[in-house]
Amino acid sequence: MAEHAAEHAAYPVGLRLSGRRVVVLGAGQVAQRRLPALLAAGADVLLVSPSATPSVEAMADTGELRWERRPYRPGDLEGAWYALISTDDPEANAAASREAEERRVWAVRSDDAGAATAWTPATGHSEGVTVAVLTGRDPRRSAAVRDAVVEGLRDGSLAAPHHRARTKGVALVGGGPGDPDLITVRGRRLLAEADVVIADRLGPRDLLAELPPHVEIIDAAKIPYGRFMAQEAINQALIDHAKAGKAVVRLKGGDPFVFGRGMEEAQALAEAGIPCTVVPGISSTISVPGAAGIPVTHRGVAHEFTVVSGHVAPDDERSLVDWPALARLRGTLVVLMGVGNSAAIAATLMAHGRSGDTPAAVVQEGTTAAQRRVDATLATLGETVRAEGVRPPAVLVIGDVVAVTPGSSVE
Ligand SMILES: C[S@@+](CC[C@H](N)C(=O)[O-])C[C@H]1O[C@@H](n2cnc3c(N)ncnc32)[C@H](O)[C@@H]1O
Repeated sequence: MAEHAAEHAAYPVGLRLSGRRVVVLGAGQVAQRRLPALLAAGADVLLVSPSATPSVEAMADTGELRWERRPYRPGDLEGAWYALISTDDPEANAAASREAEERRVWAVRSDDAGAATAWTPATGHSEGVTVAVLTGRDPRRSAAVRDAVVEGLRDGSLAAPHHRARTKGVALVGGGPGDPDLITVRGRRLLAEADVVIADRLGPRDLLAELPPHVEIIDAAKIPYGRFMAQEAINQALIDHAKAGKAVVRLKGGDPFVFGRGMEEAQALAEAGIPCTVVPGISSTISVPGAAGIPVTHRGVAHEFTVVSGHVAPDDERSLVDWPALARLRGTLVVLMGVGNSAAIAATLMAHGRSGDTPAAVVQEGTTAAQRRVDATLATLGETVRAEGVRPPAVLVIGDVVAVTPGSSVE
């Protein structure tokens, strides 16, 4: 019984192969799969094989490894620290195994794991962590466990905080438009490692519910700001928590630098000497129309799209948007924060020449379970928004792309 268990047991170890001779016999699919990792480890690879797959040949052509175009012959393992035996000739493999045993070179065998003195684990990497999985003789299971661990590390669902190299200071994380699956892998991992999360109303709020109980979640809109501006109070909260040694995530909707005041926060942190990492996010500007089936560009229909903020009315002198110029564009216009001013925006665009027949749509709470799309034309946009009771957050899309559907064709 014990003997049987030992047969299947292996002692895991990480080989440091840099500059050390590794002999690879055979250059088929197995070698092709293993060579990149051997080369990445800096091994001095000698490949012995009469032929090779095109991608292995390419590695030889670029000088990453030395290739001797011939079959295995005894003596090839001289000076090797490690060998990969994977020719398509079982006798050559057996002879190479014997040579490896005699020379005490650890060797893997692609055709007979039982005759090997080493097994290759299923490996994966995530942010400086190497995951290596051995499951006796079930490579598919090894790969499945590897995938689960790597995926968990990447998306933060496997809680494995860095202890020595935690991201210091504040991470400005773009959370995407609302669907919790639309945050980046890095954003999700930083969220999982945070001590404090300061979140906006927009963005993937469902993710907050998944955070462990020790994480302090602060609603940015509820920070008391007294005599300061609300934004200054948020900046100060970021600085205070970071100075207290906490790993702070500032979770923002969409992308931090698209109408998100992300740079103001980065500037305040820089002024306070706090390190700041910016993690881009999927902006609602493209993803919300897309989720509602509207492509912001389409060949033969629109070769440009322009994103503007509609939070200041077009006739307000504080508006920095050149609405008359926008009215002359043929492409797609995406308006954020424009629900309240939608009638005035439509009227201004028409007054400066954009046709009232131009298709328009409003997408409310895009990518979430409550997503709603309402269609109109530029002439009816304001009234439609009012009659349908559209509420922020919503994106206005104006342009012929609104009428493009999977069934329509411009050929
Ligand atoms: C202050 S801006 C922030 C934009 C964000 N930084 C981004 O890149 O998506 C807020 C506006 O973004 C738009 N928005 C954000 N998320 C949205 C969503 N899920 N559905 C519709 N509009 C959204 C709305 O126009 C909203 O008023």
